[in-house]
Amino acid sequence: MILYVVTWLSLSLCYCVTALQLEYFPGTQPYHQTGSRFNNTGWITTTQDASERYLTYGPYTTEWNTTVPSRVDFYLGIDNNTTDPLILLTVEVNDADMNYTLTSRNISRLDFGYNNIQPQIFSLYFSSTIGHRLEFRVFYHCCSTIVHYKTTVNELDGGSLVDIFAGQAGLELVSSSVFPTPHADPSSTAMWNVGTYIKPINGRWYVFYREGFYAPTPDFCNGIVPLTRIVVRNSTDFGKSWSEPAVVALPGNSTFDNCAALDGAPFFDNETSSWHYLAQCIGNNRRWSLCHYSRSGSDPMSGPFTPNLHNPVVQGGQLWSRICSGTGKHCTSTMYDEGTPEIIQKVNGWFYITFHGWDAPNNKAARGIARTRDFVNYDVAGYDLPNDALFSSLDCNGWNITWNPKSLCVGGGEGSMVKSGDYYYHLIEAPDGTLNCDVTLDEQNWVLGLLRSPTLSARSGEWEQIHYNPAFKPAKKYGCGLQYHRIFRDGDDFFFSMFVIDFGVNNLTMKVWKVVPGKTSFPVIVSYP
Ligand SMILES: *[C@@H]1O[C@H](CO)[C@@H](O)[C@H](O)[C@H]1NC(C)=O
Ligand SMILES: *[C@@H]1O[C@H](CO)[C@@H](O)[C@H](O)[C@H]1NC(C)=O
Ligand SMILES: *[C@@H]1O[C@H](CO)[C@@H](O)[C@H](O)[C@H]1NC(C)=O
Ligand SMILES: *[C@@H]1O[C@H](CO)[C@@H](O)[C@H](O)[C@H]1NC(C)=O
Ligand SMILES: *[C@@H]1O[C@H](CO)[C@@H](O)[C@H](O)[C@H]1NC(C)=O
Ligand SMILES: *[C@@H]1O[C@H](CO)[C@@H](O)[C@H](O)[C@H]1NC(C)=O
Ligand SMILES: *[C@@H]1O[C@H](CO)[C@@H](O)[C@H](O)[C@H]1NC(C)=O
Ligand SMILES: *[C@@H]1O[C@H](CO)[C@@H](O)[C@H](O)[C@H]1NC(C)=O
Ligand SMILES: *[C@@H]1O[C@H](CO)[C@@H](O)[C@H](O)[C@H]1NC(C)=O
Ligand SMILES: *[C@@H]1O[C@H](CO)[C@@H](O)[C@H](O)[C@H]1NC(C)=O
Ligand SMILES: *[C@@H]1O[C@H](CO)[C@@H](O)[C@H](O)[C@H]1NC(C)=O
Repeated sequence: MILYVVTWLSLSLCYCVTALQLEYFPGTQPYHQTGSRFNNTGWITTTQDASERYLTYGPYTTEWNTTVPSRVDFYLGIDNNTTDPLILLTVEVNDADMNYTLTSRNISRLDFGYNNIQPQIFSLYFSSTIGHRLEFRVFYHCCSTIVHYKTTVNELDGGSLVDIFAGQAGLELVSSSVFPTPHADPSSTAMWNVGTYIKPINGRWYVFYREGFYAPTPDFCNGIVPLTRIVVRNSTDFGKSWSEPAVVALPGNSTFDNCAALDGAPFFDNETSSWHYLAQCIGNNRRWSLCHYSRSGSDPMSGPFTPNLHNPVVQGGQLWSRICSGTGKHCTSTMYDEGTPEIIQKVNGWFYITFHGWDAPNNKAARGIARTRDFVNYDVAGYDLPNDALFSSLDCNGWNITWNPKSLCVGGGEGSMVKSGDYYYHLIEAPDGTLNCDVTLDEQNWVLGLLRSPTLSARSGEWEQIHYNPAFKPAKKYGCGLQYHRIFRDGDDFFFSMFVIDFGVNNLTMKVWKVVPGKTSFPVIVSYP
């Protein structure tokens, strides 16, 4: 039997290292239990073909003679992507010598962003044993026309953030900013105007943040929060100076949003040329929810965004109760408080949203993820979702911090993610005691960790940590001493930003650092001013 397996080794000239790469076309291979050849090099099954069989298995290769983290991409197409959660396919990497499946994921119609049979990539991440025969398999469960176009295997690329992850890059301070809080009473609200989120677009930075006290706080919000809205400013000098603000999102007239919109994240969707802002909202119902606002066009400063008619789009506990139900989860089913949302990306029509959760009775915090096409309906499970917490106390208890022995690390709060190479890099805060800020000196640890994973479906415990977290620590031990941290990209450059707060003098500043050549020893001790 002749195998028309196309494989090659390519030399990557930039780094002068050999990067291994394999490519297989299923139509040129004998390893199928169902279906037929499609257009010479592909393989197809229809609803008439035998179900519960391997559409493709093999090729029993020993050419993947490396142990480095690797990725296999299956190029698959479907005829019908109508909403239906039935599992149609399972993709797997199998070690044929050990008869052991190294990794696998299930695929439903919901995981396809396209119909009419066109290739969409489904990736799996694995490390294998040199000398063992590997299989890259596609199992067909049933019920659709499916085409398998090709399979490729590549070594993972850490991206340019791989250096800072290893401490082999430096951080250069590029700006410090204060967003003054007007009309503040002299108590803790003097530092209310925080919640910043920097979004670079076309050489300009937009900073979205919360602004309180722009009008008198209604009596029904007393004891909840000051009346707060979202505004945006722009900068052409990396935040050294900022324009006057424009309003993005306002409190509404309903009990769920008549006090505040705050602590959210913007996203510019270049496919539809429109802005989205997903905020925490609260009203005299005293319950945190998520509210969505949007505006078409590329200028976020041309007038307030339109509130979604379905607001609040997420009510407290709505996503966490689904994420944490079932066994083996890294979060409590009584978790609620979906907050500090971040819109990470839009892929195949899905927006990926992360958010924190808090369970006060159990004193546990976590960060989770869901996907949505319309900001109204959310999936918590799917091909590229963990159906579990991304981060929990499991991930931070081992950090080099003398945690409060009564609580240890309670879990994660606000988090910020950016993609570099094949990895998602996640900068996330972790406190002990409680997820609320304890602003008395020397009582509460509140530090930032840096983790990464090539897939958003990695659960708590599966994210790779820097050599020894935490990555950032406030010079003075205050709860919320570091706040509203972000990690973001502008062109080829990466930046970290965060508020540094000294509750001793009631002062704060937002610092922004650029990742530059050099060295960093973690933890970076960050001090005010
Ligand atoms: C078959 O392959 C050719 C050449 O790659 C391509 O142009 C064509 O679109 C393919 N047809 C289908 C139905 O995928
Ligand atoms: C892997 O295989 C290729 C070609 O078969 C060979 O050139 C290379 O030296 C091998 N690498 C290792 C680490 O064995
Ligand atoms: C697409 O799939 C849905 C759900 O399985 C099914 O109800 C519908 O009839 C299918 N449509 C076509 C055109 O096959
Ligand atoms: C491999 O394992 C599966 C179950 O995991 C079993 O059904 C199959 O018989 C095994 N194959 C071999 C060759 O041992
Ligand atoms: C795929 O689905 C089957 C059936 O629901 C389930 O038993 C299995 O654990 C799933 N596999 C993965 C990797 O999620
Ligand atoms: C199905 O695919 C079509 C185009 O191929 C796309 O426009 C549509 O948004 C997809 N629908 C879903 C629910 O994925
Ligand atoms: C930057 O902000 C200023 C002041 O609000 C505004 O006039 C200008 O249009 C903004 N520029 C852009 C490109 O958004
Ligand atoms: C709330 O009601 C006031 C008075 O009816 C109106 O002026 C304002 O536009 C409303 N705000 C929103 C966000 O609907
Ligand atoms: C939108 O941006 C993404 C990521 O920067 C890019 O890959 C994609 O091609 C862009 N799409 C359009 C329609 O400009
Ligand atoms: C852990 O932190 C202490 C200071 O708190 C430091 O002296 C020690 O070197 C750190 N350990 C490692 C392995 O980084
Ligand atoms: C605190 O901020 C105020 C106003 O910006 C400034 O005048 C003062 O010097 C700052 N104090 C410290 C200790 O930084």
